[in-house]
Amino acid sequence: MNTWDDKFDYLKLTRSLYLNVDYLQFLVEKVWKITKKVDVVDFGCGYGYLGLVLMPLLPEGSTYTGVDISEELIKRGREIFKSVPFDHKFILSSANGVPEKDDTFDIAICNSVLMHIPEPDAVLTEMKRIAKNDGMIITCESNWNAVNALLYIDGIKKSKITDLGFLQTLFERVHEKTKTDGNIGMKMPVIMARNNIKNIQARISDSVRIILADEKNEDQDSIYTSLQSDGFGEELSDEQKSKKINWFMELGFSEEEATKYLEKEIKLNEIFRNRDELNLVYAAAMTFCFGYVSK
Ligand SMILES: C[S@@+](CC[C@H](N)C(=O)[O-])C[C@H]1O[C@@H](n2cnc3c(N)ncnc32)[C@H](O)[C@@H]1O
Repeated sequence: MNTWDDKFDYLKLTRSLYLNVDYLQFLVEKVWKITKKVDVVDFGCGYGYLGLVLMPLLPEGSTYTGVDISEELIKRGREIFKSVPFDHKFILSSANGVPEKDDTFDIAICNSVLMHIPEPDAVLTEMKRIAKNDGMIITCESNWNAVNALLYIDGIKKSKITDLGFLQTLFERVHEKTKTDGNIGMKMPVIMARNNIKNIQARISDSVRIILADEKNEDQDSIYTSLQSDGFGEELSDEQKSKKINWFMELGFSEEEATKYLEKEIKLNEIFRNRDELNLVYAAAMTFCFGYVSK
């Protein structure tokens, strides 16, 4: 079983946290200036979230091709897309070797994918290969350092719930060990440049989610659940706690450092459990980086 096969519920919960559809519309119309129909390929498409929000914004006749390594997510995508009004197909494939001809697509895009891949350059090479000359490469990737800094809870000292220094070192060590990088978003302009992508620009998603205790709305619970799915104040069993401590120690932290850090995660979980009176503001700060293929 692929590690992403059981992530459908997680993806369904978290996607809307990162992106406002009107911001995507702004990018399509004012920044990317897409006025003619385009063929889009979405690398690491999951169940096709990006296709669902992006395609209705594109000129009529545009097509969507989703590529993913997870059989289960591709299956879900095919079911969900049964009723969409645009041409589409899903391909079960690794992003490193997509069974499509060279120079096929106007846009090769990915959302939260390169951060999970040890060799992002190889995926960019494949995106370039199946994109047309002058086609666009668009990546939307995370910045975990920023995400952790951009969670504000009113009345709670930030230092009591988030150790930004520890996290910064943790992310660097995870990157060294696994080659995957949760802070790849802000590095993408440089990574694109070394892959010979031209006219590179970047933007940050404008999505800010707000929970105000006095203004209860239906979204609130789903925002908490999504935050917890993304690792903020999640409920941890004793076994999960000791696994985390061991993982931190494998990454070179002392037991004391690891325990001190975990106490903050546990504190955040307690705060989330008693959340009726909480005012919270959160931004995911995803970086959209884009440029053009020159063959
Ligand atoms: C965080 S999810 C994002 C999914 C989707 N882009 C979205 O925004 O909902 C990462 C996706 O990348 C896919 N993925 C990871 N490694 C891959 C690879 N080597 N080739 C193709 N897809 C991959 C996973 O199966 C998963 O669907």
